[in-house]
Amino acid sequence: MAAHAPPPQHPKISSDEMQRRIVRFDDVRKRGIPLMFIDSILPGHQRMNYSLIGDTASENPEYDALLLAPHKFQIGMVKAKPGNGPAYHTHDYVESFFILSGRWRFYWGNDPDPDTIEGEATIGPWDYISLPPGLYRGFEVAKDETDEAWLFAVLEPHDVFAGKDPYWSPQVEAEAKKYGFAADERGKMVKPANYDQLRAELLAKLDG
Ligand SMILES: [Fe+2]
Repeated sequence: MAAHAPPPQHPKISSDEMQRRIVRFDDVRKRGIPLMFIDSILPGHQRMNYSLIGDTASENPEYDALLLAPHKFQIGMVKAKPGNGPAYHTHDYVESFFILSGRWRFYWGNDPDPDTIEGEATIGPWDYISLPPGLYRGFEVAKDETDEAWLFAVLEPHDVFAGKDPYWSPQVEAEAKKYGFAADERGKMVKPANYDQLRAELLAKLDG
């Protein structure tokens, strides 16, 4: 009879350490990021971003994720009011979204011009969408919704501040520039002089 292989050894962790691997929604709600991206200031694109695991493609380096242990994927959440959501952009990696509340309209195309979309879909709670690398996409809470809505984002791993990420439509970059926002060659946000004031105003608007 063949000898049994010894059981695999697994690292042990304490209960206290395990507590640091739990993200409670009460804490998530307090850690909203009103200006994670250069488009976050634009009417129609204002939203609250939440970073649970990883940088979730942030252009703003002033925030940490809620759960700091390294993972091979990235998790974020978004809250927005009707008619608001991320402007037209793309990534080098897959990003996918699970709808938590409300109906969200996704639209996409291969040209960076958001006026040349090739398709769109409106999906709701418990629906899921996975967007491939390179495809331009934007999305928003459906305009006929009556309340703010939430979604959950799962992103493939990616390097942080290694280059432009997201790649914005030139139209989006031009609009953001009017407010003094840009992204440098490493994808890091260049902030306007009144950044703190804009951040406080947006925070009050989105959390109020
Ligand atoms: Fe994205």
